[in-house]
Amino acid sequence: MSQHETPLFTGLREHANKNPLQFHIPGHKKGQGMDEEFKNFIGTNALSIDLINITPLDDLHHPKGMIKKAQALAAQAFGADHTFFSVQGTSGAIMTMIMSVVSPGDKILVPRNVHKSIMTAIVFSGATPIFIHPEIDAELGISHGITPDSVEKALKQHPDAKAVLVINPTYFGFAADLKGIVDIAHRFNVPVLVDEAHGVLIHFHDHMPLSAMQAGADMAATSVHKLGGSLTGSSILNVKEGLVSPERVQTILSMMTTTSTSYILLASLDAARRRLATEGYTLIEKTIRLANETRAKINEIPNLYCVGEEKLGTSATFDYDPSKLLISVKDLGITGYEAETWLRIRYNIEVELSDLYNILCLITTADHEKDTMILVQALTELAEEKASSKNEEIKSLPVHVPDIPVLALSPRDAFYANTESVLFEESAGRIIAEFVMVYPPGIPIFIPGEIITKENLDYIKENLEAGLPVQGPEDAELKYLKVIKEQVAIR
Ligand SMILES: Cc1ncc(COP(=O)(O)O)c(C=O)c1O
Repeated sequence: MSQHETPLFTGLREHANKNPLQFHIPGHKKGQGMDEEFKNFIGTNALSIDLINITPLDDLHHPKGMIKKAQALAAQAFGADHTFFSVQGTSGAIMTMIMSVVSPGDKILVPRNVHKSIMTAIVFSGATPIFIHPEIDAELGISHGITPDSVEKALKQHPDAKAVLVINPTYFGFAADLKGIVDIAHRFNVPVLVDEAHGVLIHFHDHMPLSAMQAGADMAATSVHKLGGSLTGSSILNVKEGLVSPERVQTILSMMTTTSTSYILLASLDAARRRLATEGYTLIEKTIRLANETRAKINEIPNLYCVGEEKLGTSATFDYDPSKLLISVKDLGITGYEAETWLRIRYNIEVELSDLYNILCLITTADHEKDTMILVQALTELAEEKASSKNEEIKSLPVHVPDIPVLALSPRDAFYANTESVLFEESAGRIIAEFVMVYPPGIPIFIPGEIITKENLDYIKENLEAGLPVQGPEDAELKYLKVIKEQVAIR
């Protein structure tokens, strides 16, 4: 088969074109049985392929036909031995990846700044996380990846670990020396699992960091939907044979996946793979050029700093994806959230994320110069307005990133323990039983089992006061936190 073909998308359309008389779910039957306004908005084309796993359309749980062919083409395009489609986002692919290699009590090496789906898989599987400290960037107030040295040190201390998990590239686009990490892990016979949520494009251009499959990693959960042109909620899991069993991966994926798999999502993966495989290089080339030009223009604006290749050269910033525009606004004396809100209100611009010090803007294969010119114009006006609204010299915001709390209990034991709610203000010193994170990026400030520190509570307050979306606790207002109930001796 050729990369120009789309067996799943084409097969689905051919089936819909036959206009079968349907006596199966979905009950809207090509949109005829649904809300009229929604139907007209979505359109009959989309509704005609909103189908499920009837015999002619194959089955994601046991692929033998058009899904199998589409997955095989994706594997070829991504340099994998096997590719599995996910209709439950990269979170679903990540949970499958982890639960395919660890059993209760097994150790897994993970950076502490992982996405919540990784910690969720650790809670569900009962694995023991061995945390590796990510490198902290004190200038930007963000975490980068982990280094080969830290992985080697961790593996020497825990040679019985069942897997090493690496985030590559990070949300902000920085890549570790993944090949170095893979070589070390494989010397210990330990598979490397990669959270490649922000790296679908990197495989398709040589001015990008090495992809997980190029670096020889064993599995990678790769968000096609984030940057690769498929629909939201679709993703893939790439697998290299050797240290992991593809049969086990298929079994776990099936256990974690709805039986009502969306064919719209699956077809969008098939079509996105075709575009990346056949036109990806040219499209990414253009995207990188546009991003680099925009970065240079932003760096001419006083008090703004758009991060570039000058950040490379540390062991955790081995390479980067230049299509991401990480813009530090702290020298304007405002938070990233204030900049995000200003851009929304004044220019109808929506950024990817903001934090206390930065905003992140993604340039993708969809963008043109006219779009980036508006961004540059908006940022210029923002910088001028902030400069003129301050009589005295602008005071840059001081950057601080809190320490990683001590893990006192396994995340699973903490999650399932007897708990009680205590006032947020009075929780320091207790063991937390729930996640607390800012989403996006969804990296936990606390995970179940960690000892709450005053410093981290202050950091949460700082994020809340800045208007950032702190999530996770059952009490959405964060007046209370759930902690492990203390056992008092019975008299
Ligand atoms: C680093 C990282 N990993 C995994 C995910 C999960 O991806 P998804 O939203 O497709 O489930 C995200 C989402 O933001 C992420 O940032």
